[in-house]
Amino acid sequence: IKAKMTVDKDFIIGKVDDRLYGSFIEHLGRAVYGGIYEPGHPDANEQGFRKDVLKLVQQLRVPIVRYPGGNFVSGYDWKDGIGPVSERPSKLELAWRTVEPNHFGMNEFASWSKAAGTDVMWAINLGTQGVDDARQVVEYANHPSGSYWSDMRIRHGYKEPHRIKTWCLGNEMDGPWQIGHKTAEEYGRIALEAAKVMKWTDPAIELVACGSSALGMPTFADWEATVLDHTYEHVDYLSLHQYYGNHENDTPTFLARSLQMDEFILSVTAICDYMKAKKRSKKRMYLSFDEWNVWFHSNAADKKIEPWQIAPAQLEDIYTMEDALVVGCLLISLLKHADRVKMACLAQLVNVIAPIMTETGGAAWMQTIYYPYMHASLYGRGHSLVPLIQSTKYDTKEITDIPHLESIAVHNEEQGEVTIFAVNRHLDGELPFEADLRSFGACSLIEHLVLEHADLKAVNTAAQPDHVKPHNRGNATVNGSTISASLSKASWNVIRLR
Ligand code: AHR
Repeated sequence: IKAKMTVDKDFIIGKVDDRLYGSFIEHLGRAVYGGIYEPGHPDANEQGFRKDVLKLVQQLRVPIVRYPGGNFVSGYDWKDGIGPVSERPSKLELAWRTVEPNHFGMNEFASWSKAAGTDVMWAINLGTQGVDDARQVVEYANHPSGSYWSDMRIRHGYKEPHRIKTWCLGNEMDGPWQIGHKTAEEYGRIALEAAKVMKWTDPAIELVACGSSALGMPTFADWEATVLDHTYEHVDYLSLHQYYGNHENDTPTFLARSLQMDEFILSVTAICDYMKAKKRSKKRMYLSFDEWNVWFHSNAADKKIEPWQIAPAQLEDIYTMEDALVVGCLLISLLKHADRVKMACLAQLVNVIAPIMTETGGAAWMQTIYYPYMHASLYGRGHSLVPLIQSTKYDTKEITDIPHLESIAVHNEEQGEVTIFAVNRHLDGELPFEADLRSFGACSLIEHLVLEHADLKAVNTAAQPDHVKPHNRGNATVNGSTISASLSKASWNVIRLR
């Protein structure tokens, strides 16, 4: 087995939008209560925000966080989450069958985001709400003053508008599980009408229309085409969602799921461009992959949860070493499509299918998937470069021609650095790897970080938070502009050069 990658600094895929490294906080499980917000926790600040969690979020340099859902948002009245906390209602939350106390809402989230150094991506409810709420929530959040809703925000203690730039027009409206599920026609119409009043209220905002909630949805492709037929000139992005699992314990196939992410992105891009042609439009539609991750470990446990609790443990996947490799491959897939995918959200951020875990009242720690996400966010900014890859390949029952190497390089001109991200998918052998960076001239190695573990099922826990963590003893060597390394079996590698 062996692999070679050739890159040229002029062969650019696209500028990596910082928002490619976004994440997601939903009112679901312990993401908010016991996650980012826990008044009374020994490490909480005066606003009730957990400082230990804030620190782990800040280390990730998360550029944007989608909120407040997810499935939750399709039954959520945003007005329940504003004003004096003591007057806010507790309500049955039908998406996840819990009780939502509404102690945390838009203003708290805006303050938390500021503390975390991130922006807000707000999703509106197009399940049970419609055009009127759509304009009101923008007026409350973004209008400076002098109107009913903006003055109410000021009375609530937030003089400055939140200036939320990115808004999602609902969530997964193609899914029968969604509260207020719609046909593509129904959704296309309401998304268009909501988009108009939202942009009339604040012309500076950007809008994301719902694409399919997964590639496998029976309505996939027709859904995208119909929704865009209605909304093309009024929205800026179309969303994609996809989760991957290893239910069959077939790791070679699991590691190849990123190839399906590539296919998904290419298909949605084609539909967008078809609609551009049909409409003779000058506008290019961009993509927001605003839910992606590995999700399957918690499926069985979640079926046994008693309904109508406040913030029960839900969707608490404990991630393994191999999940981190898959997340690394998925990040590389996003970078390979940085010309069209401008935003993406690792779903989610804390406790719920998340890189950060906490104990309510206790510690916070990093799951295995935290590391590839952090490395990509820190070192994957700039321009992604076309990766010309020659690699040996393998087949599984389901997928064929899977390269042992998944890799891409990102050039950060400002910092004068180029970073190679590389996964060796081979489970048993080291992968001799060469990168030809001919146009960069002589390079020098900053470091070669490696995430690997003898046990692919190894995890981090509160008791052993550092069981799986990267080291910087990778063996990359540099000779002029040729980089050589032997990539450990089943490893995630970050080769940083200047
Ligand atoms: O992220 C968990 C859930 O997955 C979200 O609520 C929903 O949008 C998706 O189905």
